[in-house]
Amino acid sequence: MLRQWWFLRTAGAFSRAHSGCSTSSGVKPKREIPADGLQLSDFIRESTRKQRQKAIIPSIEDTREYLNPEDLNGNGRSVCYVTYGCQMNVSDMEIVRSIMTKNGFVETEKREKADIVLLMTCSIRDGAEKKVWNQLKLIKGNSVNRRQIVGVLGCMAERVRHGLLEKRNLVHLVAGPDSYRDLPRLVAVATGGSNAINVQLSLEETYADVQPIRVNADTKTAFISIMRGCDNMCTYCVVPFTRGRERSRPIESIVEEVRILRDQGYKQITLLGQNVNSYRDMSSTEFAPSTSALPGFKTVYKPKTGGLTFTSLLEKVSDAAPEVRFRFTSPHPKDFPMQLIELISSRKNLCKQLHLPAQSGDDETLERMGRGYTRDLYLRLVDDIRHIIPDVSLTSDFIAGFCGETEEAHQNTLSLIRAVRYSFCFVFPYSMRGKTRAHHRLTDDVPEEVKQRRHLDLTTVFREEALKLNESLIGTEQIVLIEGKSKRDESCSVGRIDGGEKTVFDNSELQLEPGQYAKVIITEATSQTLRAKLIGKANV
Ligand code: 5AD
Ligand code: SF4
Repeated sequence: MLRQWWFLRTAGAFSRAHSGCSTSSGVKPKREIPADGLQLSDFIRESTRKQRQKAIIPSIEDTREYLNPEDLNGNGRSVCYVTYGCQMNVSDMEIVRSIMTKNGFVETEKREKADIVLLMTCSIRDGAEKKVWNQLKLIKGNSVNRRQIVGVLGCMAERVRHGLLEKRNLVHLVAGPDSYRDLPRLVAVATGGSNAINVQLSLEETYADVQPIRVNADTKTAFISIMRGCDNMCTYCVVPFTRGRERSRPIESIVEEVRILRDQGYKQITLLGQNVNSYRDMSSTEFAPSTSALPGFKTVYKPKTGGLTFTSLLEKVSDAAPEVRFRFTSPHPKDFPMQLIELISSRKNLCKQLHLPAQSGDDETLERMGRGYTRDLYLRLVDDIRHIIPDVSLTSDFIAGFCGETEEAHQNTLSLIRAVRYSFCFVFPYSMRGKTRAHHRLTDDVPEEVKQRRHLDLTTVFREEALKLNESLIGTEQIVLIEGKSKRDESCSVGRIDGGEKTVFDNSELQLEPGQYAKVIITEATSQTLRAKLIGKANV
């Protein structure tokens, strides 16, 4: 029988797409964002030429290899999956699991012995990458499998690229966020001893047809990625360079996945995207009234029109699974039209918890961050939301010590946190990232110890406010969706109320299971957790 040989292109051929801006030369270019927004060409800059210049990237001609289709089959080889970073990474690893399993690879938790170790990585701050480098050294040090292949996937793969392969003894395979379908081939290349890299970003890839293999299935909670990439270009953020341009999954594929999860007994679904509420299904033949950014909010891109928006999607998933709670993350404040807020208010299964990343409460800092809103505009949005959903829980992200942030600016952020009263905030010390506009144009001038102190200030103030909010819930009746047992006390269950606050209660009497709803009365509160008394089982 004739064997079908596949022509295989390695490294150079697959690394030529989107690479973000060129790296800094120490000279800050003066290029302005054009009035009609950034174009793809702004992202695709000289990547191929630069990559070829690197000695480890020979030209395509030099790296020809031939692969037998059988080489793409895992044939039972074991893979250990290690995930760092955000929920999107957890969700991406579920897609990777699915692709690898379909191709004959088998999951193992024994990292030292595994044939392949795949790390899903984060690049958002320098600390996140340092963690991965340390982990890579540990993996190498502890491995008892001399032929073990170690792969770096996700944002760090996209950002560091060939820099990872230079550490040839630590990393053998590099796959960016849009190349997971290519993993079996990359493993085959790495097995053959060659550089295996695919960091091509796509304008279309959403993995819509890949049915993820879910982790944490026993909690009856699941993630669904509904869109990928980000077009916002906040000046501090590397995400648009590591995850590429915004693109959304067709609405029907999402509703279908919701139905599958519903039928499998899942009770909470979190819709995920880097910019989740700017979701827009352009493939749909249905046409909802277009909702571009809120009045007053500015974007670096042209207003987007047509297609089905996030409001339509939420309406459809809410209808498809009335007994399932829906949450979503991470949104941008500009994409909260009134119809969306009203829909959330009117639907029982759309949780009254909104993440509203502010990043700063100071106008000049917000301007430098390129967030597209002022403090006042943000506060007006908060007022509108609270008017329509009075019992809403708001959460946020803040960056401490961004370029040029003065003490007064910092005080403005603290006062915003006090004014809004968030139930939770993620606070990060600023970390300068290559390729970002801040890297090109601004100076990382807030000393490290000042960043740390401001970080602590922000955390302290948000916790003070969160404690007051949580205390105000004492005595109220709430519905908790049970996720599992308390680690500290097996007789207690842990779950979340509609607003997302973690709640612990004694469940020894009714022994309700994860995925069941419990009616409780809140009895105690800290800034992080509620304690409650179980009243009975709830039907939602
Ligand atoms: N430094 C610190 N925090 C950052 N974030 C994004 N980029 C940076 C950076 N360079 C934070 C923002 C964002 C969250 C996901 O991470 O607050 O909302
Ligand atoms: Fe980064 Fe801003 Fe996009 Fe969020 S909205 S991923 S912070 S660029």
